[in-house]
Amino acid sequence: MLEVIVTAVWLMLPAYISNPTAVVFGGGTPIDFGRNWKDGRRVLGDGKTFRGLIGGTACGIAAGLIQMRLSPLLSLSNFTLTAVVALSFGALLGDIVKSFFKRRLGYGRGAKLPLVDQLDFVAGAWVLTYALDPQWFSANFLSSPWVMVTVLVLTPIFHRLTNIFGYRIKLKKEPW
Ligand code: CTP
Ligand code: MG
Repeated sequence: MLEVIVTAVWLMLPAYISNPTAVVFGGGTPIDFGRNWKDGRRVLGDGKTFRGLIGGTACGIAAGLIQMRLSPLLSLSNFTLTAVVALSFGALLGDIVKSFFKRRLGYGRGAKLPLVDQLDFVAGAWVLTYALDPQWFSANFLSSPWVMVTVLVLTPIFHRLTNIFGYRIKLKKEPW
């Protein structure tokens, strides 16, 4: 049980780092350059910026590179460089895709969408990692379904806690 939790957090750490650090680095030019979609609503909205995307991805990769050094010492699962990049970048890509569909459904920037807001980045990280390094993804996630289940259960809890913290320190506009 504890081993499954440790493995789940360890494997997801690049994504768990890139997602909140995007909030820290966020601001400036929005990825959609302020443009609207055909429906007259913003393509992505002001909540998705280049600074957030690049800063968050860089922090996730930095964490993953440290993990690659530490894994033999801690006898925890190792990463490939591709997996580290895909987990970090994929997490934020998932968040961007989520915002695109959120805007199409008429939800404004920052509107609350339970579970979707919390698992978007897990989906993005998994899909991109599976696409870019299927061998690593199969060996570490698909072959241990309990690790995947643990990620799906723990992530919304972690997400909620980090966001309450981010709201308290005035980094986030909403506590979700
Ligand atoms: N952020 C960013 N760039 C990203 C992701 C996040 O700049 N690629 C920053 C923005 O300042 C954003 C904040 O992190 O407002 C919180 O992220 P998130 O909750 O994902 O965005 P929301 O503002 O809630 O917008 P949306 O409704 O589109 O999810
Ligand atoms: Mg939000």
